[in-house]
Amino acid sequence: MVTHGIWVFGYGSIIWRPDIEFRERRIARVRGWKRRFWQGSHDHRGVPHAPGRVVTLVPDESDSCDGMAYLVDHSVAEATFAGLDHREKNGYKRHDVRLEFRDGDACDGVVYIAPAGNHAWLGPASDIEVVAQIRRSVGPSGANIDYLTELATALRALEIDDPHVFTLERLALETGQGQRSG
Ligand code: SIN
Repeated sequence: MVTHGIWVFGYGSIIWRPDIEFRERRIARVRGWKRRFWQGSHDHRGVPHAPGRVVTLVPDESDSCDGMAYLVDHSVAEATFAGLDHREKNGYKRHDVRLEFRDGDACDGVVYIAPAGNHAWLGPASDIEVVAQIRRSVGPSGANIDYLTELATALRALEIDDPHVFTLERLALETGQGQRSG
């Protein structure tokens, strides 16, 4: 497949708020990874003394993650990736990945992944603990609960199923009835 740029795969905020210039976007899947709210956010959805929780990709040979891939033109790639590197600076690193597009064919691309053990890594916790942390966290980019609900809304709009995200959303909205942050 001939490409005119670099594909970048988004599975979190990059799905609903890419904030980049792109030639086209396509729903895509990466195999061998699953989306989890295991990364701390000290700079977007939390603060240094009270980090929020955001998604990263965790290796799992039996799983896969669906998201949105964007084709960044070579002419703007340097500036675009500098911007994304800055946005994803809290523990994420670029990885090469194979993208399988929902509407057919496949292509190489890049994805930002925060690996286990990075300085902002939080790792697994019970759904109740994850939701409690999300509900109380706020950072410069807004309330952590809005990150969760925006992600769930975007996945539904794209007809992407993710039980991890939808379970957390349901719990967050149940436990927060009448007191959801604005
Ligand atoms: C991504 O969206 O692909 C990375 C994680 C995030 O910024 O929420």
